[in-house]
Amino acid sequence: MFVIAAQAGTEEPVLPERGWDGRMAKHRILFVDDQPKVLDAIRRVLKPLQSEWETVYVADAQDALDTLEQKPFDVAVCDTRMPSMSGTELFKKLKQRYPTVVRVALSGHSERETVLSQARTAHQFLIKPCDPADLVAIVARACRMGRLLSSPRLRKMITEVDTIPSLPSLYIELIREIDSLNSTVASIGGIVSRDPGMTAKILQLVNSAFFSRGRKILNPGHAVSLLGLDTVKALAISIHAFAQFDVSKVREMTLEDIWSHSLAVAVFAKWIGVSEGLDKEALDHAFVSGLLHDVGMLVLADKMPLEFEEAIRIAAQGEVDMSEAERQTVGASHAELGAYLLGLWGLPDSVIEALAFHHSPADSRTSRLSPLTLVHVANVLAQEFYTWQTEQKPAEIDETYLASLNLLHRLDPWRDACRAAMREQWGYAC
Ligand SMILES: [Fe+2]
Ligand SMILES: [Fe+2]
Repeated sequence: MFVIAAQAGTEEPVLPERGWDGRMAKHRILFVDDQPKVLDAIRRVLKPLQSEWETVYVADAQDALDTLEQKPFDVAVCDTRMPSMSGTELFKKLKQRYPTVVRVALSGHSERETVLSQARTAHQFLIKPCDPADLVAIVARACRMGRLLSSPRLRKMITEVDTIPSLPSLYIELIREIDSLNSTVASIGGIVSRDPGMTAKILQLVNSAFFSRGRKILNPGHAVSLLGLDTVKALAISIHAFAQFDVSKVREMTLEDIWSHSLAVAVFAKWIGVSEGLDKEALDHAFVSGLLHDVGMLVLADKMPLEFEEAIRIAAQGEVDMSEAERQTVGASHAELGAYLLGLWGLPDSVIEALAFHHSPADSRTSRLSPLTLVHVANVLAQEFYTWQTEQKPAEIDETYLASLNLLHRLDPWRDACRAAMREQWGYAC
């Protein structure tokens, strides 16, 4: 039985907070399920949100297509098993005809194979029995995604990227194992070692200057124990993200350049967070945000190489920064594109916020030290100290923003801490 039905009377769903996009207009969401009980349950759960969401419920895939024909929707939540048309079939049609609609699959626990086979067409998944809070959170996030990018052309480009879809089952298994209470270094190492690509990348990282102190690590289990499970998880997400895009069409950028820059930002963000005594979750989010903060550039290099090269050329003239140049040639910045993409992947809001505003933190609605703050500062320090200039016109720290958080006086200690740690750990003078 669908848990929503049982809990609907007792548990009030929490209204989704105003998102990091700062806007809250009425979103339109379509629910498709051939079981009337399931739709009734969802309807009850979402009733308190009527002023925020316009919801439409249909029992059949063809009805869903007819409804979409009549008016635009932001999100479609569809049962994966329906008699007239399978969920995969319906999602294929949605992807083709309405690519800007965020597609959420609703499937049973026993349907693991279905989930995996749908991985190429759905953006996010909800598993029955479904917690009302999860349902509201996933739909709210999917709605906010649409608000981040206003250009339909860009939304179409992003929703066409087969990202989560190409998640290999081994990767899903790895993330599940890391999240399970019973996971051990050995069990994680065992899963990593079954994927030659992931093993190679993790061994390369653990043996790189960022993590090794002259030791040679050849065993995936040993590598996992040195890196820690959360770092391995962040790396697994990032390795997957980086593997999605072909940047060879853009001469000014290599995957290695952007990867080492991203790794430096991740490590710096975490160090600064540690020096400020942030909790583990914030540190993890800062690390993964650092690794992925420029993923939008990979999307641009792969999907819109000519416009991206033009943006690099404009930014190289030094009058506008890279984000502004991208807005001129593409219509959105790599920061916005990356945030939109990771939102579709279901990453936490603090990570999405860090990506979206890493060049313009004052535009966010968060007014406290957060992963965004750490990534914003780390991005500039990484360019100052170490790596490839992601931005042709070097990025600058927004001191007014730091002052508004009462953190401007911490900037010099952060810079010193990163410099000292680099010298101490890697013998790297800067
Ligand atoms: Fe950036
Ligand atoms: Fe960057």
